[in-house]
Amino acid sequence: MKAIVNNEYGLPDVLKFEEVETPTPKDNEVLIKVYAAAANVGDWFFLTGKPFMVRLDPGGLRKPKTTILGSDVAGRVEAVGKGVTQFQIGDDVYGDLSNSGLGAFAEYVTAPENVITHKPENLSFAEAAAVPTSGVTALQGIRDHGGIQPGQKVLINGASGGVGTFAVQIAKSYGTEVTAVCSTGKMELVRSIGADHVIDYNKEDFAQNGQLYDLIIGVNGTHSLSDYKQSLNPEGTYVCIGGTVPHIFQSMILGPLMSKKAGKTIKGMGSVKINQKDLIVMKTLLEAGTVVPVIDHCFPLNETDEAFRYLGKGHAKGKVVITVLQANEAGI
Ligand SMILES: NC(=O)c1ccc[n+]([C@@H]2O[C@H](COP(=O)([O-])OP(=O)(O)OC[C@H]3O[C@@H](n4cnc5c(N)ncnc54)[C@H](OP(=O)(O)O)[C@@H]3O)[C@@H](O)[C@H]2O)c1
Repeated sequence: MKAIVNNEYGLPDVLKFEEVETPTPKDNEVLIKVYAAAANVGDWFFLTGKPFMVRLDPGGLRKPKTTILGSDVAGRVEAVGKGVTQFQIGDDVYGDLSNSGLGAFAEYVTAPENVITHKPENLSFAEAAAVPTSGVTALQGIRDHGGIQPGQKVLINGASGGVGTFAVQIAKSYGTEVTAVCSTGKMELVRSIGADHVIDYNKEDFAQNGQLYDLIIGVNGTHSLSDYKQSLNPEGTYVCIGGTVPHIFQSMILGPLMSKKAGKTIKGMGSVKINQKDLIVMKTLLEAGTVVPVIDHCFPLNETDEAFRYLGKGHAKGKVVITVLQANEAGI
């Protein structure tokens, strides 16, 4: 099969389009014919080997042990291991391979059955591939770590990228009043996906405008923990999903200490916990039309390096998708 292989750490130039052996599913796995995948910031970390800790897990101090990246996948089941109970050959599925060896930047990939579910019926494969990592991250950040409640005032900082566009829509689905922070060119997009108020970070600093929020979700952006703390209502919560590496660590280490003093909750969500149940929650939201994936750009598999050059600039408008097999080629 054809795949995008990364035998060394580096910038997207190290990604090579090569012929490799097609994987064989283990007893608990399915073999998926990949129709689409998506580029994530997590893949960027494994591609570059930075921050350094990614070289410890999944590993490869000097060179990557995982040589085909790609966590998000959508495709059709081509073979099933003998222990698989939920899927049959021909089923259309989507899922997240973050904790099961990656490998979606290829024509075929194997996946344990507990990290995939049936593809939302109303979505194309490209749309479905845009969802798993970013959608479930936004869901867990808002629901589990943020404890979102109807009627709350919610701020999403970094609202226009892969995770942010899901975060805005998921927060709205809880009946909250959502303020989204993004740059000038993306204001219309975040309004179109349901944001009640939009702050252009080039013109206004949410931390200086006197507005307070019950829940702030930090997806991207450059504010300090103190800025977030002062923008919270007295019992408000700040959840750091992403941003700079120092900010992520500060939120996880200093957040709990600051919370005690401030009487507010400041925390980092750590890594998303991939599970089938939340993929099904996302499928329900997607099939109801409550959440719609926003795709910035689709790149064909052999241009995955271009996809990462684009993602690496840090200004994607929604998701960057890799199409492996077009629907018309697949006869669907
Ligand atoms: N905790 C987890 O398990 C987990 C999982 C997935 C991702 N993440 C993290 O979440 C973060 C975002 O991921 P992503 O997939 O959404 O990335 P992305 O798609 O590359 O996000 C790019 C977006 O960030 C916005 N942005 C950049 N600088 C900004 C600023 N100063 N203020 C507000 N928005 C800004 C950009 O908007 P403009 O062009 O308008 O600036 C762009 O739309 C990353 O740090 C990633 O590592 C964490």
